[in-house]
Amino acid sequence: MSRFETVLITGANRGIGLAFVKHYSGLAKRVIACCRVPEHANELHSLEASCPSVEIHTLDVTDNKQIEALKLAFNGQVIDLLVNNAGIYGPKQNESQLDKALWSQVFEVNVMAPILIGRALSKNLALSPHGVIANMSSKMGSITDNGSGGASIYRSSKAALNAATKSFALDHAGLGITTVLLHPGWVQTDMGGQNALINTQTSVKGLSEVLEQVNASKNGHFYNYDGNLIPW
Ligand SMILES: NC(=O)c1ccc[n+]([C@@H]2O[C@H](COP(=O)([O-])OP(=O)(O)OC[C@H]3O[C@@H](n4cnc5c(N)ncnc54)[C@H](OP(=O)(O)O)[C@@H]3O)[C@@H](O)[C@H]2O)c1
Repeated sequence: MSRFETVLITGANRGIGLAFVKHYSGLAKRVIACCRVPEHANELHSLEASCPSVEIHTLDVTDNKQIEALKLAFNGQVIDLLVNNAGIYGPKQNESQLDKALWSQVFEVNVMAPILIGRALSKNLALSPHGVIANMSSKMGSITDNGSGGASIYRSSKAALNAATKSFALDHAGLGITTVLLHPGWVQTDMGGQNALINTQTSVKGLSEVLEQVNASKNGHFYNYDGNLIPW
């Protein structure tokens, strides 16, 4: 059961994004599955073939023209849930070798893209009786939770996403859109690695339950996949 009839997911070809596609298509919801190279998205194509409610769209989240094309393609259509899932970890380099170009690239994907995509699709979400935007953050963006240091690029990108999303949430509440930040757990994906604690199904089961409970009183909050609030 889900109240979200149309769901748009970025980075939908693998990892947590693909698990979201499977979850909502399994409930026969319309899923707009966005990925940057559809011709390589074999699992998505299999899903699309077996499930008519799945539609694949090309979206490199850093490409402004593709964001504009997405906006035009869905002009006037209701989107109930936008999951800004696409993200990158960036280089796992020594903290003394931080690279400005790579740092900027991580910010483009993890910070700027979710906000710009949310803005581009805000009219679609406003058409929903309960439009929700979920920006995929990470506990690693929590400054309170940082007890080990390191990972400055990824940590700072998710902390910046949290800050920008809080403003977005307040700025768009008047349209009836609720915007939240999510931590998916430490998940077995290409990013999380095989030693991670949970699989993508467990993560998405938890996250989707959290999303069903989201209402205006939760606007701008940062949730773990188990429903607990995460400190900034
Ligand atoms: N796994 C974890 O333990 C964990 C923990 C906390 C937060 N997260 C967050 O959860 C989200 C999903 O992570 P994951 O573990 O599923 O990662 P993943 O397995 O590495 O998958 C990342 C996804 O993002 C897409 N992506 C990257 N750059 C993109 C771009 N420029 N345009 C469009 N798509 C792009 C990738 O597409 P390609 O296949 O084309 O590269 C892929 O679909 C991320 O935001 C991540 O930061 C993950």
